[in-house]
Amino acid sequence: MEQLLNTIANYKKEMADFTAVDEKQAEDFRIKYLGTKGIVKAVMGEMKHVPAEQKKEAGQLLNEFKQFAEQRFQQLQEAVGSQSATAASLIDLSLPGDTLPMGSRHPVVLMRNRIVSIFQRLGFAVAEGPEIEDDWHNFGALNLPAHHPARDMQDTFYVQQNPDWVLRTHTSSVQIREMEKGKLPIRMLMPGRVYRNETISARSHCFFHQVEGLYIDENVSFADLKQTLYFFVKEMYGKDVKVRFRPSYFPFTEPSAEMDVSCFICGGSGCNVCKKTGWVEILGCGMVHPNVLSNCNIDPQKYSGFAFGMGIERPAMLKYGVNDLRLFSENDVRFLKQFTTAI
Ligand code: DAH
Repeated sequence: MEQLLNTIANYKKEMADFTAVDEKQAEDFRIKYLGTKGIVKAVMGEMKHVPAEQKKEAGQLLNEFKQFAEQRFQQLQEAVGSQSATAASLIDLSLPGDTLPMGSRHPVVLMRNRIVSIFQRLGFAVAEGPEIEDDWHNFGALNLPAHHPARDMQDTFYVQQNPDWVLRTHTSSVQIREMEKGKLPIRMLMPGRVYRNETISARSHCFFHQVEGLYIDENVSFADLKQTLYFFVKEMYGKDVKVRFRPSYFPFTEPSAEMDVSCFICGGSGCNVCKKTGWVEILGCGMVHPNVLSNCNIDPQKYSGFAFGMGIERPAMLKYGVNDLRLFSENDVRFLKQFTTAI
């Protein structure tokens, strides 16, 4: 009897401590204690060892033990059942869904897409190249051999581990990569980020973005260059905008020019943006230098081409009324979310 009492007390404690968080665990309890091979059955089997005169008392104890197990099972079932009932009552299926906050495109991306889409209509495809470049693609092949004074025009970041590597100073390096592929004709647009060692201020930054254009085929002339850029300017700034070319110098083009458009802020009468001149400079361009073609194994006797390069930040600043270049790279959400609806 004493042994039986002990066993029952131990199992009761064990059952009282048993917890269940879901139906599966409640079922585990049932199988362990109330199943056909369960503990309650096993303990009931002890009855046969109890002396006859104590059988009545033991029978009561065992019945009570079985009831205890059944009650505990019921409690556990109710507990897991009521938990899922509570969870269900917390879900209100009639509530409207959460709206996701609207993302926005970066103003530099918006301007890049605008520029790219205009040239795409003329059949230009888009290409990209690495931002860490070797000296050959960024300078050498572009007709800027070592010690060429024009290298000073661009304050270059060199990679410490390898003096042959630079952070590209212009997207012109991608021209070389396209020409090297040897697939002609080429009609490519090459947007990307470029780096120059300049003091960061409202008007200059150590990185910014450019779009480069390249067209190589037989019989390409300066007239093609002008017509292509006229088309771009009219699409970009409107039919009434005036255009002028000024002779300029770039080592990779000959002849070279810079293109101005009549100031789209004041219409040419003179304002702060055009510094009272009535003109805004928007890009550099020219006929690809024969040396550059030769450097890329393209026969300059057979092929000719034009190239141009323009910054993206400046037109973006003018279009969206941004007066500080640094805003573009600070990731201030208050600034960025203003472009949610811009196209
Ligand atoms: N690479 C020049 C720069 O960063 C821009 C440029 C000028 C690109 C004339 C060209 C070009 O392709 O023909 O200032």
